Amino acid sequence: DWTMAAYRDQKIADIRAQVGDGKVICGLSGGVDSAVAAVLIHEAIGDQLTCVFVDHGLLRLNERAHVEGLFRDHYNIPLVVVDAEQDFLTGLAGVTDPEAKRKFIGKTFIDVFDEEARRIGGADFLAQGTLYPDVIESVSFTGGPSVTIKSHHNVGGLPERMNMQLVEPLRELFKDEVRVLGRELGLPDVFVGRHPFPGPGLAIRIPGEVTKDKCDILRKADAVYLEEIRSAGLYDAIWQAFAVLLPVRSVGVMGDYRTYDYVCALRAVTSVDGMTADIYPFDAAFLSRVATRIVNEVQGINRVVYDYTSKPPGTIEWE
Ligand code: XMP
Repeated sequence: DWTMAAYRDQKIADIRAQVGDGKVICGLSGGVDSAVAAVLIHEAIGDQLTCVFVDHGLLRLNERAHVEGLFRDHYNIPLVVVDAEQDFLTGLAGVTDPEAKRKFIGKTFIDVFDEEARRIGGADFLAQGTLYPDVIESVSFTGGPSVTIKSHHNVGGLPERMNMQLVEPLRELFKDEVRVLGRELGLPDVFVGRHPFPGPGLAIRIPGEVTKDKCDILRKADAVYLEEIRSAGLYDAIWQAFAVLLPVRSVGVMGDYRTYDYVCALRAVTSVDGMTADIYPFDAAFLSRVATRIVNEVQGINRVVYDYTSKPPGTIEWE
């Protein structure tokens, strides 16, 4: 008779067996998966675990403070916050291809973890919140033309030089199961219920070149959108919602002035596991309220569109 409590106990035993008295660093992304992985591993091995949260400059508004609050204040789990915005944004300059962005970000994450591991006197293991769907969608399917849909930043193993083994206790789970496990571990509901957020962050929500200015514009639009979703009581009915900043400018008029600014696309989907998704059918009044607020409040955006594409044939993220 299978329960999540039994699964948790089994995983704790597995982690102890794998890790022994070794040291583990765990990358936190701000999302649910890595948080659940970290808390599970902390239950298993306590202070042999150090969490590392990389602020790559591609985070949502207030995300860093939120994660620091949860881990330092609520759990008292050792947490290192690395300010790596410069490295990431400098490296992303001029990069427009979606897979090139993902590969650069994945590699840079590894470099940061490597350096942090050295700083704590060496770590034997790197822990990640990789889920089953991440594994499936990143592999090349056999038996046909080889197709990688998206290289998830956290799938594909570690470079040889790192001398670290991976700990991935959620690798068999789907998202809904990770949430059940998170509740089992006592994570606060507001955290467990959060929408997924991808490791590459806003970089894959800014088609074309990523710049700090664009990240700042997108952060504001995204925050307005999510604030409206929350105040309409829709947050929990939606699997994931976010804004995308398009590399397209359009002409508009504000008062007596001509504007020539970016277009923002809004995405919201329902899903069970992220493998397939349907668009969330907002009513027109809600969408026009969000559009009006974004255009009025976010300098740099003068037009808002809603993405009506299901998955498949679309994917949830734009890159
Ligand atoms: P797609 O865009 O593939 O997204 O339909 C499915 C789900 O996966 C998330 N996603 C990622 N999560 N690293 C992650 O941790 C990644 O590289 C990544 N790419 C996509 C996406 O936000 C959605 O929830």
